[in-house]
Amino acid sequence: MSTNTPVGTAARPLRVAVVGSGPAGVYAADILTKSEAVKSGELTVSIDLFDRYPAPYGLIRYGVAPDHPRIKGIVNALHKVLDRGDIRFFGNVDYGTDLSIDDLRTHYDAVIFATGAIKDADLNIPGIELEGSYGGADFVSWYDGHPDVSREWPLEAKEIAVIGNGNVALDVARMLSKHADDLLVSEIPDNVYRALKDSPVTDVHVFGRRGPAQVKFTPLELRELSHSKDVDIILYAEDFEFDAESDRQIQSNNQTKTMVGTLTNWIAEQPEDLSELTASRRLHLHFLHSPVEVYDDAEAPGRVAGIKFERTELDGTGNARGTGEFVDYPVQAVYRAIGYFGSALPEVEFDHSKGVVPNDGGRVLDAAGTHVPGIYATGWIKRGPVGLIGHTKGDALETVTYLLEDRENLPLAATPAPEAIVELLAGRGVEYTSWEGWLALDEHERALGDKASAAGESHGVAVQRERIKVVPREDMVEISRGAAVEV
Ligand SMILES: Cc1cc2nc3c(=O)[nH]c(=O)nc-3n(C[C@H](O)[C@H](O)[C@H](O)COP(=O)(O)OP(=O)(O)OC[C@H]3O[C@@H](n4cnc5c(N)ncnc54)[C@H](O)[C@@H]3O)c2cc1C
Ligand SMILES: NC(=O)c1ccc[n+]([C@@H]2O[C@H](COP(=O)([O-])OP(=O)(O)OC[C@H]3O[C@@H](n4cnc5c(N)ncnc54)[C@H](OP(=O)(O)O)[C@@H]3O)[C@@H](O)[C@H]2O)c1
Repeated sequence: MSTNTPVGTAARPLRVAVVGSGPAGVYAADILTKSEAVKSGELTVSIDLFDRYPAPYGLIRYGVAPDHPRIKGIVNALHKVLDRGDIRFFGNVDYGTDLSIDDLRTHYDAVIFATGAIKDADLNIPGIELEGSYGGADFVSWYDGHPDVSREWPLEAKEIAVIGNGNVALDVARMLSKHADDLLVSEIPDNVYRALKDSPVTDVHVFGRRGPAQVKFTPLELRELSHSKDVDIILYAEDFEFDAESDRQIQSNNQTKTMVGTLTNWIAEQPEDLSELTASRRLHLHFLHSPVEVYDDAEAPGRVAGIKFERTELDGTGNARGTGEFVDYPVQAVYRAIGYFGSALPEVEFDHSKGVVPNDGGRVLDAAGTHVPGIYATGWIKRGPVGLIGHTKGDALETVTYLLEDRENLPLAATPAPEAIVELLAGRGVEYTSWEGWLALDEHERALGDKASAAGESHGVAVQRERIKVVPREDMVEISRGAAVEV
């Protein structure tokens, strides 16, 4: 190929690397391939999608709760994109370890980082480091069978506090309180089922620092709490404070109105004498509680024995302020679900206060605030860890639009041949997985589900199982790379 071959033609397509195969990365790749410039034949693109996990789909696989099959089903749409064959998938490839920015610049004309977020935001209160105090994101990774977290999770507490009033807090509280047998229809790995089955939990308390009209969770997810069998929901009348600003929020936002309606109905239906409730587990929803300290005691030094909150009151602006009244709850475990936080990427500028790659509409900026030519970002690493899967589509569209706008001025790759990156990875001994590898792993996981379904039971419970997840990274890689594994 002549060095003068124009870039973006069939002979020399525009080479784009997308790092991260969560929804943001897959949508970005899809939107680029379907852009007007490509459809009209004005531009030819060639896209490689990398992920540090052997399997694609990011938080849809390792964040969305296993008992949310409808949401997990969004992978069917992403599957169709990657199954077309015009976007190559390289799993088990870590940007920063297996590939550097120089490698990507050498092989691609543009790079889109779509690396999301997987870690908990910090909660800086005394005692947060005690044994029995956990990050919600870590628990999510465990129950969703993340390959890089321990297979063991200590579920020894009878009483548990969950801090936060977002959808992750509800996921964590629901997974902690739901009976394990009711999760068997889902794709939960066997180690997760066994640990949940043995959990002695009786009471899970969820604490929001503002009022019922200021929650961040959503109506469907709230109502779902009442569908857990043998789990009673308990609310507290003193937490139901609504000021003028709350009324305004309720009137102006249908979601808020629905949720406040649900909560007030629940509390109205609740028996005055709570001993009339009969479920073996209880899920308590508390509002206007701001966490102050996690503490241990003389009986179990170094271990969580309780949590102290300051009661709050609404301040008329939608926020809450402390009242000076403190209240203790004896619990043996604390889960903070106060948001995720993005991780810095080697050799890329990072905003440590927001946990994002600094960018202007997806154009990645350097320390001086200037766009780094050819480098882009999308999804949670671009705008922070808030928003649904669907929101990453709009994000990706914005980023891709800028990339296309810049296409005449991209720093061109020195080694754009598609086989060069394969040779580089192979030469470095990187055991990358492919789309065909994912299809093999997908089939294997479904076969595990079929086997359990054919047996008519799983762990002694009569269920049909669509899939059972493979957890260890080495097993995922082995199956993906073609080893015959017995089901
Ligand atoms: C617990 C939880 C439950 C959720 N449930 C729902 C739900 O029910 N419905 C809904 O609409 N939304 C839900 N969301 C939100 C949704 O998951 C996000 O909006 C979405 O996943 C963000 O997409 P993303 O592609 O930016 O990031 P991610 O999904 O996090 O994908 C990022 C990808 O980048 C990869 N990556 C990271 N670093 C590197 C690296 N150095 N090298 C290579 N690859 C890398 C990761 O492995 C990952 O695959 C949930 C979020 C959480 C946290
Ligand atoms: N089923 C689903 O659709 C689903 C499931 C999971 C996640 N998601 C989405 O994923 C995104 C992330 O969810 P998330 O729950 O991690 O984040 P989130 O929606 O931002 O909620 C974070 C919660 O933590 C609270 N919080 C933050 N700092 C705190 C502190 N220091 N002390 C006490 N409380 C604190 C916040 O309270 P304040 O509001 O007072 O700040 C808020 O209630 C959201 O967009 C969510 O909708 C969706």
